[in-house]
Amino acid sequence: MSMSHAALVRRSIDLIARHQSPSGAYPASPTFSAYRGYCWLRDGSFIAEGVSRHGQARAAGAFHAWCAHVIASHEGRVDALVERAGRGEAIPPGDMLPTRFTLDGAEGSDEWWDFQLDGYGTWLWALAAHTARHGEAVPGADRAIRVAARYLTAFWDTPCYDWWEEHVEQRHVSTLGSLHAGLRAAVDSGALSPAEAEAARGAVRGIGELVRAEGTTGGHLAKWLGSGAVDASLLACVEPFGMVPPDDPLGAATVAAVEESLSEDRGVYRYAADTFYGGGRWPLLTGFLGWNHAAAGRAAEAARCLDWIAAQATPDGELPEQVTDLPLAPGMIAEWEERWGPVGTPLLWSHGMYLILAAELGVRG
Ligand code: BGC
Repeated sequence: MSMSHAALVRRSIDLIARHQSPSGAYPASPTFSAYRGYCWLRDGSFIAEGVSRHGQARAAGAFHAWCAHVIASHEGRVDALVERAGRGEAIPPGDMLPTRFTLDGAEGSDEWWDFQLDGYGTWLWALAAHTARHGEAVPGADRAIRVAARYLTAFWDTPCYDWWEEHVEQRHVSTLGSLHAGLRAAVDSGALSPAEAEAARGAVRGIGELVRAEGTTGGHLAKWLGSGAVDASLLACVEPFGMVPPDDPLGAATVAAVEESLSEDRGVYRYAADTFYGGGRWPLLTGFLGWNHAAAGRAAEAARCLDWIAAQATPDGELPEQVTDLPLAPGMIAEWEERWGPVGTPLLWSHGMYLILAAELGVRG
């Protein structure tokens, strides 16, 4: 590793700050062809959580205020969707809220696999974590919390794309985990009306029951309801989303299953059949693995994950989306490079996860 952890922490904070838009939004990657100019609620929430944990209260607050503004501006659309669903109408995925926005909060004109619910739950979770840590209210938060909670309460059991833009026909357990955490956070915020809070609590119960009944396989959480496969995004269902506690056998078995079947020397694959850029190992997923080790008291294991992430940085301290030195599907690397160019670097979510894990381990810049 060429840079010390303290130096990579500083570099990560600096990169994230440098690329934060004046609007508050974070581009997923400032350079990568397919991500440039767009902010994802999922990526951005973990990026903001990373800098929030390293004292960047104002920068993270600006991201949350941007999200609050963008989400609240969709209130009329959410209420119309909820009303249509209430009438029993089948709503096409294209009518649902976007997964990503341009840095000024518009929808943008580039095609994307757009219906994903998880980002709205992840944002509610990250907003609560940031607010509890720094104690300052985010402007416009209460209205946006209500809009996001009404949306998720109405649609949590609707199939949608997963974290990886795949399998729109399935209900993904990691998506359900983020909605579970987000709706709990919304209830705890006190921003919901009594009726909204009651409905959100019902959704949380429903998610928990459905996952226990249909979302497990071989004693661990499953990639989607009824699937026999595992996916590294499931790590988030334990830590940080707490849908399953780390000391619950189901949580412990999930972390163990991901580590056993999807990791190599601490680098973590998304899932066994992955072919995107040849299916390499993702530093941000090693961040989730390390975070789970830290939460379960395995600090030495967590530190090894931090080391592995840092070892993937370029000489000037940029972390990629994935590393393709041990690909699952080597024949697919060239096809993606031709389509979208080299692997996205820097990927700000990778830096966000590095910062989160560093903070868990008390590593500061
Ligand atoms: C990943 C998403 C991510 C997006 C932006 C996609 O390739 O599948 O999880 O949100 O890139 O980083």
